[in-house]
Amino acid sequence: MTEPVSATAHAHPNIALVKYWGKAPRPGNVPASPSLSITLDGLTTTTTVTLTGREDTVYLDDRPVADAKIAACLDNLRRRFDIPPVEVRTRNDFPTAAGLASSASGFAALVTAVDAACALGLSAAVRSDLARQASASAARSIFGGYVVLEEPEWQGRPLLEGGAWPLRVVVAVTSDTAKTTSSSEGMRASAASPFFSGWVDSTRDDFAAARFAVLERDFERLADVAEHSCLKMHGLMMATRPALLYWNPATLACIQRVRALRDQGVPVFFTVDAGPQVKAVCLPEAEAAVATALQEVAGVQRILTAGLGGGARVAGR
Ligand code: PMV
Repeated sequence: MTEPVSATAHAHPNIALVKYWGKAPRPGNVPASPSLSITLDGLTTTTTVTLTGREDTVYLDDRPVADAKIAACLDNLRRRFDIPPVEVRTRNDFPTAAGLASSASGFAALVTAVDAACALGLSAAVRSDLARQASASAARSIFGGYVVLEEPEWQGRPLLEGGAWPLRVVVAVTSDTAKTTSSSEGMRASAASPFFSGWVDSTRDDFAAARFAVLERDFERLADVAEHSCLKMHGLMMATRPALLYWNPATLACIQRVRALRDQGVPVFFTVDAGPQVKAVCLPEAEAAVATALQEVAGVQRILTAGLGGGARVAGR
């Protein structure tokens, strides 16, 4: 039987409801605190890895790129496995590097495609461990639905299938511009913030509360802890030198719109990552009203909607 020479993998971004921001002081790109996320459907990274026998080449949306993080991920895989030179072709059907977790879906898809192309036979847990070393949030995109990333293994683990509590996500895109400070640089700077130790210590309680809320399907409780974790992370970011201010006026206007909707009884809460997009998480019956309300906010360029999706998977060889 001939070895496969090419494999394609799909992966989806995930959105953390309890955020991670900051690394533990040890090797392996280990987060300083646990996180809990939902993996989306609808937004997809597709990555094809082909064993070429020539030097590594990487294409993002058909343009050749020199991406240090992809090169480092391949080097890291080669320290453990026999991987020949590869061509990587990757594309996102959503904005890259603008706070929509393209690195999470990107590295989950890359590790999954390398595993398949080289017939390594890795478990999902090992792929998650390898993806985390490239981008910690990528460890969570290996799995679908509700996912936790916690000590001691720091491999993602599924908490609840998406179908068991099918929340919807309405993304208000307020800018397509790529962010100027990467999350790795930002996290390094935030470690010196006077808020950092408070953030790390209190996130453990947030994580426990969110995990309980998901298992109980308690929307109010999840809304409360997710908004708190989001605003606390942005408080830490703002209290970093130089300050990390990822919001624009439309970001804040969307946050206020979501708060007003919830005050009126609409089951929705917001979360925002290292970028200006606002993700409104809601029960299915509220999706249309939330999408209409956010579309009307000045500065919102467009609305994307997603449900909860599956983990990274091989599409074909
Ligand atoms: O794993 P990274 O480097 O993409 O950082 C992710 C950071 C946040 O998205 C802001 C929070 C999180 O837990 O996903």
